[in-house]
Amino acid sequence: MSKKFPDGFLWGASTASYQVEGGIENNDWAQAAREGQVPPAGIACDHYNRYEEDFDIAQSLHLSSQRIAIEWARIEPEEGVFDEKELQHYKKVVQAIRARGMEPFVTLWHFTLPLWFVKKGGFTHREAPETFARYCARVVEHLGEDVTFYSTMNEPMVWIGNGHVSGIWPPFKKNILNFFTLPNRLILAHKNAYKIIKNNFSHTKIGVTKNNIVFQEFGFHKVFKIDVLLEWFWDGRFHSAIKNHQDFIGINHYFRVVLGSTHSKKECPRSDFGWELNPRTLYAALMELKKYNVPVYVMEHGLADRNDTHRAWFITESLQGVHQAIQEGVDVRGYSHWSLLDNYEWAEGFTMRFGLTAIDYEHNQKRTLRESAKVYAKICKENAL
Ligand code: BGC
Repeated sequence: MSKKFPDGFLWGASTASYQVEGGIENNDWAQAAREGQVPPAGIACDHYNRYEEDFDIAQSLHLSSQRIAIEWARIEPEEGVFDEKELQHYKKVVQAIRARGMEPFVTLWHFTLPLWFVKKGGFTHREAPETFARYCARVVEHLGEDVTFYSTMNEPMVWIGNGHVSGIWPPFKKNILNFFTLPNRLILAHKNAYKIIKNNFSHTKIGVTKNNIVFQEFGFHKVFKIDVLLEWFWDGRFHSAIKNHQDFIGINHYFRVVLGSTHSKKECPRSDFGWELNPRTLYAALMELKKYNVPVYVMEHGLADRNDTHRAWFITESLQGVHQAIQEGVDVRGYSHWSLLDNYEWAEGFTMRFGLTAIDYEHNQKRTLRESAKVYAKICKENAL
């Protein structure tokens, strides 16, 4: 029997500005690329110019939502100076999404930062939370009624971990203490943005898009309850801190972390990234959010799978878990697959292929739908598994 999703459930695909747009030179990642520390993004998918074509693809997949990010460095290239032309560009982008019958989900900050902001000390600078909130409010004001859903930020803990603890992303800091101090700065930045947006633009719904890992403990390790501690540290702490400053929870989920041995005979297949493809963990990640009692949107979930060997079954089986979580009382209102297009995968450059649509970087960024996209499109069309 087919498994129906609730009426109005939003089916989408996600992207982020620096990963797809191309032509961005004034942020910290572009600077790091010039210094040879990370791969250059170049023109990426040229989505900045080809967004209409890309949203046609999304529409052909029967998607009802589309997640994008705004590039802060485009909007505010110098401190306090806002670029009207770029604001207008994003206005056209969200209108192109709406014109195709899709709900735009807009992320205001997805990992990359303007150079002037970084030079001032980034989020550790005294005024940073206000500066961030001012930028957010300017964008929301400009996009007006065309956008309801905003995430102030994407994956704060991943950004801290990779950029400030393990030091593999800009600004390449290696200090474990940042795991304890920086979340508070980002929480403050989010709260400031939330307040200013909600006070001035009451039509909006604001959240944070959080990467949540499922920690599972097996064998004798269980007695230590380290999974509970890690779950709080990585997932729960941020959610609890902003629980009175959010209208929904956005969650990105990719994999679990296993502590101890599962003693399971059956190994799950792995993505090109080496990440375990266990379709049950999305369900577990969603169940952890039940206690917050707010609507939940899956904003990212996906896999690097260049040959498209696993994408179709992994999506389908993971969605069984989304359906089950809804049956068991989690108010999940949407699922957005990562990603609409192959794109720039941060430190990995263009090697990892997460797209429902393949991009041929050698041949003018030619777009080709992968077979798995058709399987996903059928689910979206029927709103059922
Ligand atoms: C990020 C994306 C990234 C994806 C796959 C998430 O951590 O939000 O920017 O491409 O995972 O690694």
